[in-house]
Amino acid sequence: MSNSHVKFYSGETIPLELHKTRIVQKLNLVPIERRLEALYEAGFNTFGLNTTDIFLDMLTDSGTNAMSDNQLAAMMRADDAYAGSQSFTRLHEAVKDVLDTQYFLPAHQGRAAENILACAYIRKGSLVPMNYHFTTALAHITEKGGQIVELLYPESYKIKSSHPFKGNMNLEALEAYIQKHGKERIPFIRMEASTNLIGGQPFSIENFRAVRAIANKYDMRIVLDASLLGENAYLVKQREEEFKDTPLADIIKIMTGLADIIYFSARKLSSSRGGGICTNNELIYKELEALVPLYEGFLTYGGISIREIEAMAVGLYETQDETVISQSPSFIAYLVNEAEKHGVSMVTPPGVLGAHVNAMEICSHIPQTQYPAGALASAFFLISGIRGMERGSISNQRDEYGNETYADMELLRLAVPRRVFTLSQIMYAVDRLVWLKDNRELIGGLKFVYEPPVLRFFMGRLAPVSDWPEKLMAKFRKDFGDSL
Ligand code: F0G
Repeated sequence: MSNSHVKFYSGETIPLELHKTRIVQKLNLVPIERRLEALYEAGFNTFGLNTTDIFLDMLTDSGTNAMSDNQLAAMMRADDAYAGSQSFTRLHEAVKDVLDTQYFLPAHQGRAAENILACAYIRKGSLVPMNYHFTTALAHITEKGGQIVELLYPESYKIKSSHPFKGNMNLEALEAYIQKHGKERIPFIRMEASTNLIGGQPFSIENFRAVRAIANKYDMRIVLDASLLGENAYLVKQREEEFKDTPLADIIKIMTGLADIIYFSARKLSSSRGGGICTNNELIYKELEALVPLYEGFLTYGGISIREIEAMAVGLYETQDETVISQSPSFIAYLVNEAEKHGVSMVTPPGVLGAHVNAMEICSHIPQTQYPAGALASAFFLISGIRGMERGSISNQRDEYGNETYADMELLRLAVPRRVFTLSQIMYAVDRLVWLKDNRELIGGLKFVYEPPVLRFFMGRLAPVSDWPEKLMAKFRKDFGDSL
């Protein structure tokens, strides 16, 4: 059952919460004057903010999904042991039951799994075709001398679309790419479930089956990034006719069954911490096994706390539960639809993980050289206390010659972690977003004052190109009086 099964007498589409809140955390909504100071302290980078200054933390769903009572209960029975822990056995059983794979290697989070895969398979000159990159996957592949190529259909790059599966791999381009470069240089094809950086957009099973057929034809491997697999499976059920009556648990297994290697960030997939790599192929398991004790920890904990291993096991089973998995996408759909109704340009159709605001349109007066998505993230925090994440050119890395590579999309991501926010908080986000859109001309650009060489979006510091933040604050005070 999902909340889409509950209809309201009024006819309104309201994403009813199918859980109750029993442990709560007090939030801080500090005055805008303090938020401005906090922005300067953070170097106009929302990663630099502290939660004492944040009202709604929509930075990410990574490690911030609400945990269930059963997860917390399981954490109490953790069997701490360096080797052979019963907790790990329970996790391994959960992996077998939910993801349908025999072999499992734990890693401390998603990027650690990416590191292990890159160490094992990426050499100088390796090429990795994928539907779209994720920042850490790209960084690990290029660090080992490999290159990636993104093979989406043109429709996927359209911010506004009604295509249900914008994460689909461009099949013709994939086959042409393999024929052009030869399979020897391509260690694997990477499919990212619910393609994060284009707005959390899913791919269909029909598409995935076709990718599998191409991989079989050329005897190649597929790596599935399953960090957002639960939500991708949920949208398959919602949007792909063949699966409308298929239980989520079965859809998940159909998807994992099409890959040779599955890796994931448990910070997302199972609402816990940790990560891992799964396969049914003994040879692959043997290729990767030795790297886990080297980089992560022994094979029965892989750098993850044993308590989190227990939470991960329960969280994996809960990934099969539609009441759990439907909550975030339905809140995102509500946020996107309400914002769009009021003229805020959003990525459509609504995807998973978060709602994505189109900074290219709201900040169309800010050139990409001045980072419109970063500017929008700063401005939105200033006027709302809501922390989002820049997903645009700041999140891109420079090319091998040190030149900027401007992003295909300049997005402000407002993450909606599972079962964390209430609907009135989502309504507040929409309200402030609409006000900011109506005052958009007051938002100005940003420039780097400190730019780290790798994953610059995490630690980089920026500054406004003018006194636009002060002017925006003054307008807020004029319109809202003494409101927080
Ligand atoms: N793959 C995808 C699709 C992700 O979204 C992430 C993380 C990772 C891999 C890396 O996993 O963080 O556990 O090392 N995404 C987070 C986000 C950080 O905010 O979107 P990790």
